Amino acid sequence: MLALAFSVACHAEDRGVAAGGSLEAKLEYCKTCHGLSGQGYRGYFPMPRLAGQQPQYLENQLRAFIERRRTNPIMANVAHVLSPSMVAALAAHFRSLDPKPYGAAPRGSLALGKRIYEEGIPEANVPACSACHGTDGKGQNEIPRLAGQLYDYTVGQLTGWAKVRGQGSAVDTSAIMAPTAHNLSRSQVEAVAAYVGYLQ
Ligand code: HEC
Ligand code: HEC
Repeated sequence: MLALAFSVACHAEDRGVAAGGSLEAKLEYCKTCHGLSGQGYRGYFPMPRLAGQQPQYLENQLRAFIERRRTNPIMANVAHVLSPSMVAALAAHFRSLDPKPYGAAPRGSLALGKRIYEEGIPEANVPACSACHGTDGKGQNEIPRLAGQLYDYTVGQLTGWAKVRGQGSAVDTSAIMAPTAHNLSRSQVEAVAAYVGYLQ
C-alpha cells in the first residue's frame, strides 16, 4: 500500500518535471493529487483542498515547504522547482476555483463543532476560530480558508501541528495557530474539522 502510494507520487512528479514550465502543465500536475477542481482527494494521504484558498496563505505554505519550516517530503519536492511567478500564477488559479466541499466527514458532532468554531472553548483557552478564519471560514491573507477542507487532512494537521509546522529556528506564521492546536482535545478536533468540512 505504501509502495503504491509512493510510486503514484513519483509518477506524478516525473510528469511535472518533464512537462517543463507551462502553467497548464503544472496545474495538471497539482491536480493529479489535489483533485481536478482543487477540491482535495482522499488517497493514501489526504490531499488538501486548494480551491478558494487565500493566495497569500498558499504562497506562504509553498515557501514553508521549500524552507523546511513545514515538513512534508512530497510537497518539498513539488515546491522547490517552482519559480516565484509560477507560484503566484498557481495561487491565483486555485483561488478562482469553487467546487462543492468534498464532504465525507462524520456528522455526529457538527453542533459541537459549530459551537467551538463560533465561540471557542474559554475554559481550555481555545479562542473562537471565526475570529481569525472568518465567520464563513474563508480566511484572509496568511490565515487559511478552512471551508470545505477535507476532514482527515484537518484532523491530521491539528493533531500533528508541532511535529510538522514551525520547524527550524525562525518563528513563522504557524506560531499564531500553535497554542490553539495544542489546547484542542482529539474529540474537539474531530468535531470542528467535521464542521468546517461542510462549510461552502
Ligand atoms: C504527489 C501528490 C501531490 C502533488 C503532485 C502536489 N501536491 Fe500539494 N500536497 C500534497 C499532500 C499530501 C499535501 C499535504 C501535506 C501535509 O500533510 O502537510 C499537500 C499540501 C499542499 C499545500 C498545503 C495546503 C494547506 O492547506 O496547507 C499546498 C499549498 C499545495 N500542496 C500546493 C500544491 C501545488 C501548487 C501543486 C502543484 C504544483 C501540488 N501541491 C502538487 C500532495 C501533492
Ligand atoms: C489568532 C488567529 C487564529 C485563531 C483564533 C485560529 N487560527 Fe487556525 N490558523 C491561523 C493561522 C495564522 C494559520 C496559518 C498557520 C501557518 O502559516 O502555518 C492557521 C491555520 C489553521 C489550520 C491549517 C489549515 C491548512 O489548510 O493546513 C487549521 C486546520 C486551523 N488553523 C484550524 C483552526 C481552528 C479549528 C480554530 C479554532 C479552534 C483556529 N484555527 C483558530 C490563525 C488562527
